[in-house]
Amino acid sequence: MKYVLVTGGCGFMGSHFIRRLYTRYPEYRIVNLDLLTYAGNPENLKDLEQAEAVKAPAERRYDHIQGDICDSQLVDRILEGKSFDLVVHFAAESHVDRSIFNFRDFIRTNVEGTRVVLEAARTHKIPRTVHISTDEVYGNVPEGMSTEEAPLNPSNPYAASKAAADMLARTYASVYGLPVFIVRSGNNYGPNQYPEKLIPLSITNLMSGGTIPIHGSGTHVRSWVHVDDFARAVDLIAHHDAQFDIFNISGEHRSNLEIIESLATHFGKDMAAHIVTVGDRPAADFRYAPESSKIERVLGWKRERALEEALPATAQWYTDNRAWWESVKARKEFVDHYEKQSKAQWY
Ligand SMILES: NC(=O)c1ccc[n+]([C@@H]2O[C@H](COP(=O)([O-])OP(=O)(O)OC[C@H]3O[C@@H](n4cnc5c(N)ncnc54)[C@H](O)[C@@H]3O)[C@@H](O)[C@H]2O)c1
Repeated sequence: MKYVLVTGGCGFMGSHFIRRLYTRYPEYRIVNLDLLTYAGNPENLKDLEQAEAVKAPAERRYDHIQGDICDSQLVDRILEGKSFDLVVHFAAESHVDRSIFNFRDFIRTNVEGTRVVLEAARTHKIPRTVHISTDEVYGNVPEGMSTEEAPLNPSNPYAASKAAADMLARTYASVYGLPVFIVRSGNNYGPNQYPEKLIPLSITNLMSGGTIPIHGSGTHVRSWVHVDDFARAVDLIAHHDAQFDIFNISGEHRSNLEIIESLATHFGKDMAAHIVTVGDRPAADFRYAPESSKIERVLGWKRERALEEALPATAQWYTDNRAWWESVKARKEFVDHYEKQSKAQWY
C-alpha cells in the first residue's frame, strides 16, 4: 500500500484527481483532507464512498477527513505513523469575485494553509509534494504566452494569494530541499464544478431560463482545459522523477462570450436574450496564456479533450445531473453570493 494525501478533494478538480488515482492505482490508499467549505461537496465522490462503505476498515482505500489545512496538529497527525509517498495540495479559496469581498480568508487558506501543508511535508519527509497553483499568478498577458520562467505578476487578491503560495513552495524546495512540483493551469471546466464559475453558471442559467451576468465587455480571454486533461497532467507530474519542477498546463483560448455563445447554441437558445452586462471586476485581467510545451516535451502530456466536443459533453452532464446543481444553487450561501455577483457589487 502507498499512502497519498490529497487536500481539497471534495472540490471540483480535487475530486476528479482522486477518482483518477483511485481507479488507476489499486495499491494507493487515499486520504482526502477537506474542510467542506461552501465549495466542497461530498456528493462529488459519492461513488467512491459507496464502494468503500461495504469493505472492512483494513481494506478501505479512500477516507475523507473533514478538517482544516491550517490546523497544523491535524495535518501532522494525518501524516505521522504511516509512510505517505505523495501529497497533492488542491485546497484553496478559488473564486476571484469572492477574494475581492474577502481578501482575509484567501490569505488564511491559500497562504497560511499552504505553509502548513508544506511544513508538514518537510517534517514528515514526504518524497513528493505537488502544489496546485494557477496561470493567474502570471497576471495579465495582453499578447504572447507565459512560460514557466515568466515573472509572477498577480493583479487580484485570489491571484496574489496563489502567487504567495507558489513562492512558498519554491522556497521550501530551495531552502529546505523539499521535493515539490508546482502546477500552473488555465481555467478548468467539466462535471461537478461549483455553479458560480462561468461555464456551470452559464449552463445552469440557460437551462433554467435565467440571465447570465457578463463582466464588462465579455471579451476577456482564458485558456480552457478539461478537468480530465488536467487530472492526467497532475498524475504524470506526481510520478515525475525529479527534485523540483514547475509545469504550465494550457488549454484553448476563448473569450467568455465565445464560451457562452457555444453553450447557447448547444441548448438552441439565443445568447442575446440571456446575457446581462454588469460592471467589470476592478483591475480585471484581460488575458491569461500559459504555454505548455514543457510538460509536452518532458512528460509527454497532450491535451485530449477539445472544447468542440467537451463543452457540449459538459453541458450534457449538467443536464443529466440536475439534482446535483439544483441543490447547490438552492443553498442560502449560493443565493446570497449570487446576488452580489450578478450586480457586480465588489466590496
Ligand atoms: N478552477 C480552476 O479553473 C482552477 C484553475 C487553475 C488552478 N486552480 C486551483 O486548483 C485548486 C482547486 O480548484 P477548484 O476549482 O477545484 O476549487 P473548489 O473551490 O471547487 O474546491 C476547493 C476545495 O478546497 C476545500 N477547502 C477550502 N478551504 C479549505 C481548508 N482551509 N482546509 C481544507 N479544505 C479546504 C473546499 O472545501 C473545496 O472542497 C485550487 O488550488 C485552485 O486555486 C483552479
